[in-house]
Amino acid sequence: MEKERPTWSSRVAFILAAVGSAVGLGNIWRFPYIMGQNGGAVFLVVYLGLILTICFIPLFTELTIGKITKKECIGTYEQISPKLKFLGFLNPFTGVLISSFYFIVGGWIINYIYLGIKNAQISNYESYFGTFVQNPVTPCIFTILFLFICIYYAGRGIKKGIEFANNVLMPVFAVILIILTLFSLSLPNAHLGLEYMFKPDFSKLNVHMFLAALGQALFTLSIGMGALLTYGSYIGEDKNITKTTYTIIFSDTFFALTAGIMIFPAIFSFGLEPSSGAGLVFITIPQIFAQIPHGNIVSVLFFFLLFAAAVTSGISIIEVPIASMIERCKITRAKACTILFFIIGIISIPATLSFGILGNYTIFNKNIFDFLDFITSSMLMPINALCLCLLGGWFFKIKGKDFIQNKFLANIFDIGLKYVVPIILAGLLYIGLN
Ligand code: PHE
Repeated sequence: MEKERPTWSSRVAFILAAVGSAVGLGNIWRFPYIMGQNGGAVFLVVYLGLILTICFIPLFTELTIGKITKKECIGTYEQISPKLKFLGFLNPFTGVLISSFYFIVGGWIINYIYLGIKNAQISNYESYFGTFVQNPVTPCIFTILFLFICIYYAGRGIKKGIEFANNVLMPVFAVILIILTLFSLSLPNAHLGLEYMFKPDFSKLNVHMFLAALGQALFTLSIGMGALLTYGSYIGEDKNITKTTYTIIFSDTFFALTAGIMIFPAIFSFGLEPSSGAGLVFITIPQIFAQIPHGNIVSVLFFFLLFAAAVTSGISIIEVPIASMIERCKITRAKACTILFFIIGIISIPATLSFGILGNYTIFNKNIFDFLDFITSSMLMPINALCLCLLGGWFFKIKGKDFIQNKFLANIFDIGLKYVVPIILAGLLYIGLN
């Protein structure tokens, strides 16, 4: 058990950690491929619309509730009523499930960094990736390695571990992203990629696009899993949450857009398919690296970029169950990390094998990996976000007038928190279930 509840060492450290949580595989791996599958620019319009209108409310609320209660998720719900404890438990549970597939992708990234360093010559990335993920041993080892790295930093605690990882990795991430984006923009026909991203074709608009965009928005902003609540609970006094919320939203959107500007011009320049799905970053992009001079160096940079983003988010995902274990079971951080290492390790192994020997084993017609992605981003995160808004609006009575000077906007916030956002989230869940 930690003697005193830890706090962030400074306002900047907290913002960097919150941005580090938001900016992750959701921006660089998931965002471009979901956009590619959903018609490009028109998806971007819907996505930006949602981010700029509804997402402020649940994000602000999650951070604020953490700051008010100074408790982890289960204790927060318990404070309202012991009967609601199970809703709090849903957060660390979601965290464990997300990590079981998120860390698999982290493992793939480590493998690709390794390929770049040894300058492996691969002629067909489609068959390479297919064979790699089917292998029963190597992806498991890399997944466990990635898990170990995240657990290691989380295990060192808030200041020495989480802050340190964010302070080092986030600037590295930003620099590599800018270098690669400039490189991509300098390729021939780069403008075709920009047109794909920014010239919407509204005839492609449909309901599914809204669902995909809202799911992506929650996932990329880390809303609805307790990560922001837990990070918010480490805030000392007088930190301005409104500014932090804007910073998270704007930097996450900036990095997602920049990732798109890095990826799509390169894809169009080489005449490849933007809608190839989850393999976009592991099959399509490496095909580009294979064709350019010093491609292996660019490849190492690119996958290190992904690695940096994934580690800082991965740490925030596991901090939720870690904080719950420390505070509920009264155990040390080291013990909580060790137990969690085994729990996530055990769940992620069948998910890793779902591309190979467990490929025929499906739940709701999805393999284990896809099922974990679906159940978390389309079900559990919206449920958690919905509960948080109700908690914030009805029980903690968070009021717009306390932090927004403009009366009209403050009223809009109140109505949004109590009614509009919960109804939209419930609608999303309903449509997703049907
Ligand atoms: N937001 C992270 C990303 O974009 C993922 C994440 C989800 C992190 C939920 C914390 C909580 O990759």
